[in-house]
Order: sequence, then C-alpha cells, then structure tokens
Amino acid sequence: MQTFSRRGVIEALATLAAGAAAPRAMADGSTLGTIAQGVGVTFGSAAGGQIYTDTAYEKLFAETKLVASEWQFKMSSLQAQKGVYDFWNADQLVDYSARKGKTLKAHCLFWQANNPAWLTGLSTADLQYVFDKHIDTVVSRYAGKVQIWDVVNEPFWPADGQPGGFGAGPWFQAFGQDWVKRAFQRVAAVDAKARLYLNESQCDNNAAGLGVAIRPALLKLVGDLKHSGVPLAGVGLESHLDMGLPYDDAQFGAYCAQLSNLGVSIAISELDVRDFTLPDAIATRDKMIADRVQKFLTQALSTRAVDQVVTWGLSDKYSWLKGLWQTQRGTTFRQPRPLPYDDQMQKKPCWNAIAGALRSRPRA
Ligand code: G3I
Repeated sequence: MQTFSRRGVIEALATLAAGAAAPRAMADGSTLGTIAQGVGVTFGSAAGGQIYTDTAYEKLFAETKLVASEWQFKMSSLQAQKGVYDFWNADQLVDYSARKGKTLKAHCLFWQANNPAWLTGLSTADLQYVFDKHIDTVVSRYAGKVQIWDVVNEPFWPADGQPGGFGAGPWFQAFGQDWVKRAFQRVAAVDAKARLYLNESQCDNNAAGLGVAIRPALLKLVGDLKHSGVPLAGVGLESHLDMGLPYDDAQFGAYCAQLSNLGVSIAISELDVRDFTLPDAIATRDKMIADRVQKFLTQALSTRAVDQVVTWGLSDKYSWLKGLWQTQRGTTFRQPRPLPYDDQMQKKPCWNAIAGALRSRPRA
C-alpha cells in the first residue's frame, strides 16, 4: 500500500484547495507551486506566446503561482514604433494571469539592450521625453493589473567602461548613473501599489568582469536606492547558470544574505542552466544540471528573503537557449536541456532538484 508523507498530504490538499489540476504532479499530488508555497516561496515561470498555442505546454503552468512576461512588456514589443503603442500581447498575458489567478510579473520596463531601433540616435532630451512618456503611458494602463514590475533590467555591464560599471545605452545616456533611481521614483508615482523590482544577471558566477564585478556594483546601487527612500521591493538575480563559468554557490548564498540585510526581497528570477560545455549524453547532462540546480537553490533558499523562484520557461522545447545554441554552434544535433520539463513535456531530474531544494528549506 502506498504511504504518504504528512508534508505530501498537506501539499496535495493545497493543490486541491487551489483548484489547480495537478499536472504531472508527484504521486502525492504536489507541484512546484505547492511545494514552494509550503516554505514561503512563490514559484513561477516566464511565459511566451506558446502558452496559447501548445495546450500540453500550457498545462505545465498549473505548477506556477506567478507568470513573468518573457517579452510582452518590453519596449520592443509595446512601442515598436516611436509613439505607437501595441498592447495586444501584454493585454493577452494580463487576461491569462487574471483568469488563472496568478501573480503577473511584468518584465521589463527598461533595458539597455534589445530596444527598438528608433531609439538609436535620439538626442538626450528626446530620450528623457521617451523615458517619462513610456512610464506614464504603460504603468498607468496596467495599474491594478500588474502586481510586480521589473522596472529596470540589467543596469550593469562593466565591459562598457562607464562609471560605476553601468552599461552604456539610451537610458544611461539620458540620465547618467541616476537613471535607475529616476525610473523607480516615476513608476511609483504612477502606480503606488505594484511591487517594484530591479533585475540583474551574472551574479551567480565568479567570472572576472561578470559576477565578480557586477555583484558589488548591484549591492551598492541597492543600498543607495534604499537609503534614498526609493520604493524598491525586490531584487531579481537572474541565475542563468552557465556550467562553463567559475562559480561558488556558498558565496552566492552569502550574497543573498547581504542583499537581504538591505531590506529587499530576493527573486531567483530567470533560473535555467546553460549546458553548452557539458557532455552530449542526456542522462549524464541531466544529472549534472540537476545537481547544480539543487546545490545552487539550496544555498539561495537558506536566506529567508529569497521568496520567489522563477524559471525562464518550463520546457526545453521553448527555451531561449535553443536559439543561442544554434547561433553559437550552428547545429541542432543536440539541444540544450535547461528546464524542469523536456521537449515532450516530461519531468526531468531538474524538476526533482528544484523540488528537493525547496523541501530542504526550513518551513515558514
Ligand atoms: O516582438 C515579437 C512579437 O511582436 C511577436 O508577436 C512574437 C511572436 O512570437 O515575437 C516577438 O519577437 C521575439 C520574442 O523574443 C518572442 O520570440 C523578439 O524579437 C525577441 O527579441 C524576443 O527575445 C527575448 C529576449 O529576451 C529579448 O527580449 C527572449 O524571448 C527572452 O527569453 C529573453 O529574455 C532575457 C531577459 O529578458 C533578460 N535576461 C536574459 C534573458 C535571455 O536573453
């Protein structure tokens, strides 16, 4: 006869209470969302257009309590032409998240990269106008519909040689090092209720010029913003774990504690694994990926302020890394395996690794 752990029964009841069909849940009915909920963490994933076209993929999102917009709220989607707004894709995700009772994390208002081409060459004064107008137009439209804004994505890029390690780009050109503070202050003035997040990459690795340089720069910026009274609710640490870069997960865990001491919530905000340097053999690769994810998340979750884990997609089939692999390697003889589910929407060791790390966290 199958026995159930007490925790498993609680999580299964939480699933049933949430009315969520437990998709491919563990035998005891738990999902990553209910397991996370049990330890004070919100589990979510980035959603692209595939959730409307692939029902088998969309079913996986019943594991989540939060959806993040993979691209629908970026300026390149909302304002592909100067002054012409197209809200269709963003509205569709607002409707989806509301219908499914999920928290919506709109990613991202401003990024120095992947901007619409018409921004290039604008004067500083024009950029300042565009910046303010974009906030006023977009944030007012979604007030009450977007619960979390990634206000600024990836402000730092030391290789650009700008002061303070800031990335070059239109917004740094417009306002200098104060551009991040200005963004948060204006967004808060338009929507005082949404939780405002700052999102950054690379902090999970110990590569020179990447994590080693960006972590202290981000810590200083967060401290400055909080000391200035900026309504910064949380910091997202993307965590695209690159197995080809040096890392020290204990050091990352300590960094989460340092951020926590500044009074912010922390999100592991874009979790996946770049496996390009790992062996071809799928079983070997999957195990190496799962081991890394479990060790990394366990360290991160040892800080209570880490209360959000968001994977960057749920199935390898739609990972952004597939395109990057093809661009970098020019071949499809093997595909990246960065996420909890494979191309056939089957659970992988990575799913168990995330579940294991969550379960290892002392209960809330
Ligand atoms: O904009 C069109 C849209 O109009 C169209 O309806 C839709 C149809 O699928 O495609 C959209 O195009 C592409 C979009 O992905 C959806 O595929 C964009 O051209 C393309 O630039 C966009 O790429 C996204 C990329 O950020 C740039 O925004 C990736 O999906 C997304 O995974 C990636 O995510 C970034 C995070 O924002 C920041 N951290 C790194 C992470 C990975 O690069």
